[in-house]
Amino acid sequence: MADNSSLIVLIVGSGGREHTLAHACVNSPQVARTIVAPGNPGMAAESCQCVSVAANDIDGLVELAQNENVDFVIAGPEVPLCLGLVDRLNEIGILAYGPTSDGARFEGSKIHTKELLFKYNIPTGAAASFDNAEAAIEYLDTASYPIVIKADGLAAGKGVIIADDHETARKTVKEMIDGGAFGDSGKNVLVEECLFGEETSIHAIVSGKNYKILPTSQDHKQINEGDTGPNTGGMGAYSPADLIDEAMMQRIEAEIVKPSVDAIAAEGIDYRGTLFIGLMMTKSGPKVLEFNTRFGDPETQVLITRLKTDPVALMLATAKGELDQIEVKVKDEYAMVVVLASEGYPGSYPKGLPISFPDQLGDNELIFHAGTKQNENGEIVTNGGRVLGITALGSTLQEAADRAYAICDQVEFDTKYLRRDIGAKELNRA
Ligand code: AMP
Ligand code: GLY
Repeated sequence: MADNSSLIVLIVGSGGREHTLAHACVNSPQVARTIVAPGNPGMAAESCQCVSVAANDIDGLVELAQNENVDFVIAGPEVPLCLGLVDRLNEIGILAYGPTSDGARFEGSKIHTKELLFKYNIPTGAAASFDNAEAAIEYLDTASYPIVIKADGLAAGKGVIIADDHETARKTVKEMIDGGAFGDSGKNVLVEECLFGEETSIHAIVSGKNYKILPTSQDHKQINEGDTGPNTGGMGAYSPADLIDEAMMQRIEAEIVKPSVDAIAAEGIDYRGTLFIGLMMTKSGPKVLEFNTRFGDPETQVLITRLKTDPVALMLATAKGELDQIEVKVKDEYAMVVVLASEGYPGSYPKGLPISFPDQLGDNELIFHAGTKQNENGEIVTNGGRVLGITALGSTLQEAADRAYAICDQVEFDTKYLRRDIGAKELNRA
């Protein structure tokens, strides 16, 4: 590996999360060159080298890392992790941030995670798993409603159905197991108790038995204001989030984070990456909804932006098994990201609409690209559901919100859609 000021880093992915990680690399004193595969125009504008290798092309990514003498790979999304990218890189001695496929399986299989949670008595909803529709329906006959039906495998955030009644639940399991509604991902299903409460999440950076909990953040998953309408990948986030106070954080650490990290290690997995724990804050305490094995998007945009510690140093220490030797320092400022989406998302929407940007941004104001591309005329145009993540820091949450929304108003494209209430619950509580 190169010395500590001349690393060649490869970031895998092309969304807002990866642009945020690329921005951190470009600004890290340790990084000489940042390559992204496939990347987006926002990263290209920050002098990252975009190479058109897809995030699920494991052979292509390994070859790229070898050909470019990459020292350190940061894997953004879950798919390359589940496909064993980090296993392959480890085999050839290239350091990587993100778990090997045995760790990524906690995102790749909801049944696998539920088994771990049950085995180690980590608080979560009651559940049963099925690979046969008749047995699932028999179970549903005596269940109470609503009930949650989950496709076991990766389903791009769409594989969870909350069934209000027996008929819907029956239909859903039949469609998943026999109808192939989610392909192989739905061949096995998890039928889970419906939990009630406010939903939140924790990001822990894990390296074997060591972990560091990142600041709190709150995503806004639903497409419309007031948390209504279908779920999306996330329409905005802020940090810190006061839903989890100091005392609750201690409880979550003692009851959920530490037992989960210990459980994964006890299973013989040397996990090195982000463990993103989805939680429901129920009346009887926090319970695990899911594990993701990567950073959240758009949570990354606020979490990484608030770090005083160089995020690259943190990820490198994690990958090397030296996480205990680094301190995670956080800025006092609040951060907010507001997602500018294409109207129609999470359903269908047109692409290719030109975007106009403000001439300049202030300090601590950032525009992270997600669904954008450069067209043949050199214009930046829309190319996805979530187009941009408008991010700002402020000495209060209100100031961060005012700055982010002021930039949102200066960005224009025909299908621009945003939620105006990111952080509103917290601002109203204050
Ligand atoms: P998951 O991918 O497992 O987090 O599920 C996606 C979304 O479905 C979560 O963010 C929750 O909003 C909802 N959800 C999942 N499991 C449950 C549950 N047991 N009870 C209530 N809502 C749930
Ligand atoms: N924002 C939620 C996720 O990344 O899964």
